[in-house]
Amino acid sequence: MGRMDGKVALIMGGAGGMGAASAKLFSKEGAKVAIADFKVNEGEAVAKEINDNGGNAIFIGCDLSQRGAAAKVVKATLDAFGEVNVYLHWAAIAVPAAELKLWECSRETWDKIIAVNLTGVYEMVHELAPVMIAQGKPGAMMLCGSIAGLWGWPMGDAYTAAKGGVISLTRSLATALGKYNIRVNCICPGCTATPIVTGSTVDMDYHDLEKVTVSSSCGMPEGLIALDRWAKAEEQADVALYLCSDEASYVTGVVMPVDGGWTLV
Ligand SMILES: NC(=O)c1ccc[n+]([C@@H]2O[C@H](COP(=O)([O-])OP(=O)(O)OC[C@H]3O[C@@H](n4cnc5c(N)ncnc54)[C@H](O)[C@@H]3O)[C@@H](O)[C@H]2O)c1
Repeated sequence: MGRMDGKVALIMGGAGGMGAASAKLFSKEGAKVAIADFKVNEGEAVAKEINDNGGNAIFIGCDLSQRGAAAKVVKATLDAFGEVNVYLHWAAIAVPAAELKLWECSRETWDKIIAVNLTGVYEMVHELAPVMIAQGKPGAMMLCGSIAGLWGWPMGDAYTAAKGGVISLTRSLATALGKYNIRVNCICPGCTATPIVTGSTVDMDYHDLEKVTVSSSCGMPEGLIALDRWAKAEEQADVALYLCSDEASYVTGVVMPVDGGWTLV
């Protein structure tokens, strides 16, 4: 028995990092998996790996910043699997290192970050919520914030603003969708060794977690993470699995830091 037996999981941003880890884990736990992402080659490779291992996955290429993309993703998932029971929204982009401060951030970059990281959530939930409500079955959504949206940290003001929006949206969506037995929760990852980090501000070999030291991250001084190490993408996926499983049937509107204790300090 898998914890996702009989469920269809749609994973936005499933080509890399935490999304790919979730796609593999949710499949292992019995879900049919629709992977949507901007990165076509990587997304197709994740779907192939799942199918080669006996799972059932499709890949849907999309650019979430474009209008109409969300509708296409939801339709392709329904065409393939007939329903959506679980939605994971991992997709996001980071602010270029030269534009982290609001006053150094171009309007173009601001618009792009908000379009992907916040409006992308609007687009997907706008399309998906009516479908999940009409299904009349229990459902779960997991949105992705960041510890950067919880408290002050100079990780890119456009990024933190978008993540703050996702956190607030989690709470309001949870109140609105609760009566349909659709739960909405939010993971706020701390430092996790994935491409989004290496693609922005950090000089490190993210494939080798042993080499990713606390002191090499985002200018972060040593000693701030209670567990004294970065997370693996799989550790975020494990929490997503719990939040979307029936074991969390009375958990909604929760904004959960998964940060090794960083927000304690
Ligand atoms: N890695 C960290 O340390 C960290 C910390 C806090 C929060 N987060 C959040 O965790 C989530 C997952 O990030 P990750 O670390 O796995 O990074 P990642 O870059 O590996 O994953 C993000 C995925 O989103 C996809 N994506 C980006 N723009 C897209 C678009 N326009 N349309 C469709 N797909 C798009 C990317 O192609 C990528 O596969 C993100 O929301 C990120 O903000 C990450």
